[in-house]
Amino acid sequence: MRLRVTTDQPWDVAADVLVIPIVGEPVFEGPLGEIDRRASGELKALAAFGELRPKRFTSSIAASGGVRAARLLTISAGPTNDIDRELAVRLGSAALHRLAGRHAASLAVWLEPLAGVDGGAELVAGLVARGVVEGMFDPKTIYVDDVPTAPPAIEELVLIAPAGTDAAAATKAAERGVIMGEGANLARSLANRSANDVSPEVLAEEAYTLARKHGLWIDVIGPDKATELGMGMFMAVGRGSDNPPRMIVMRSGKKGELDAAGRHLAIIGKGVCFDSGGISLKPPERMEEMKMDKTGACTVIAAIATVARLAPGTPLLAVAPAVENMPGPHSSRPGDMVKALNGKWVDIINTDAEGRLILGDAMTYAERLGATHLVDVATLTGAVSRALGDLVTGAFGTDPAWTGEVLAAGARAGERYWQLPLVDEYLTEMESWYGDVVNTGGAEGGLVKSGLFLREFVTKPWVHLDIAGTAYYRKAKPWAARGASGASHATLVELALAGAAPA
Ligand code: BES
Ligand code: MN
Ligand code: ZN
Repeated sequence: MRLRVTTDQPWDVAADVLVIPIVGEPVFEGPLGEIDRRASGELKALAAFGELRPKRFTSSIAASGGVRAARLLTISAGPTNDIDRELAVRLGSAALHRLAGRHAASLAVWLEPLAGVDGGAELVAGLVARGVVEGMFDPKTIYVDDVPTAPPAIEELVLIAPAGTDAAAATKAAERGVIMGEGANLARSLANRSANDVSPEVLAEEAYTLARKHGLWIDVIGPDKATELGMGMFMAVGRGSDNPPRMIVMRSGKKGELDAAGRHLAIIGKGVCFDSGGISLKPPERMEEMKMDKTGACTVIAAIATVARLAPGTPLLAVAPAVENMPGPHSSRPGDMVKALNGKWVDIINTDAEGRLILGDAMTYAERLGATHLVDVATLTGAVSRALGDLVTGAFGTDPAWTGEVLAAGARAGERYWQLPLVDEYLTEMESWYGDVVNTGGAEGGLVKSGLFLREFVTKPWVHLDIAGTAYYRKAKPWAARGASGASHATLVELALAGAAPA
């Protein structure tokens, strides 16, 4: 996709479609009045007809009359005082989503109505460009060659910035936004792929391909080496399937190298290529969604590739334990005792609480490789989606300063998080008769207990992001198709880039 930033008037820009954000009630004065006048009053007429409404994400397509673009697409942003980074991204995506099945090769977006977002027009250029790229994603195109209902593949994106915008800075921000969007789409496309397609081995091959492409160091640990190293929790899950497990380890920079912020950051992602529950088998309803239980792994693999594109050489470690959680003659049973890589004895009460097992060993391994700060991202609990839904990711942290930095990266990325408490007292409900800890304890506070369990396997500042609610949409949103959403990719990239060497 070619990118161009211009400060021309919106009615003077040639494109197949001109996107016009409508903030609050449309007021046909100033430039919007001029666009409407040139379009022979079509927008005003649509508003009077009730087709152009101020409700967020509603849209209308109009003939353009004397405006140079061939068609006009209005997209409503909702109340004036509510425009934030997340919305700027989603408006870009929603425009593309609205054009699904239509023929458009060039798109111009008028940024001025959104330029009030903190950071101004340059920042908005980056957010909208990212949104446009994310809006082009359609999971149906993964397997089907010709999808007539897919959003159009935009070949040229023109960002119309207000006069006085630093065009070079806006172009740079937009280029960065495109790369961020492509990274999110890579994570989404991997996450959406089915379990008969993406096994742990295939995920590792995808990681190899990316590592080669972006000059990353990679090591993939198979079952023999994992057993020898003592990854008892990882193997307890991995041994249950005919598709062998893979611990995928990728790195940019040197082993243990500190970044410009003085950290050796490790991002760890849950890679359960299919979660049947194992012997603690899940009920059949919506079990098909469990092919997306590898989203955390896909997110960290995509994020390290994105960081390699944006700031090559930035020290960063990505660890993605990939397994298939299956019932069978080799599966772990409820009550099985396993020894974790950090030496703790774990009592597997429920084989469906598998994510925390593989993540625990992955985090211990990340620390052994020199990680000083950790973030894990995982579709860990149904409870988080019941509590926070599909728009807010749950976060747990052990170190307030580090948690603050991760949440600040989330805010820069335009992603929403809500911090949940690690209630020490509940750990007493997770005592094992035989070992150090059980992998699930009692029905109450299950969400908190998932965080408490993971905490047993870290010693350094750590944040856990539970994306079980946000990782994928069950129904299409105005800004996205159903399926994987790309959640947390941008946050991880922003977090890592805080440690990039100054340009
Ligand atoms: N992968 C699931 C969590 C999940 C549920 C993700 C729904 C996305 C949608 C996880 O491995 C799991 O099975 N969690 C159990 C934990 C329980 C056994 C303590 C859960 O949430 O029910
Ligand atoms: Mn499970
Ligand atoms: Zn799972």
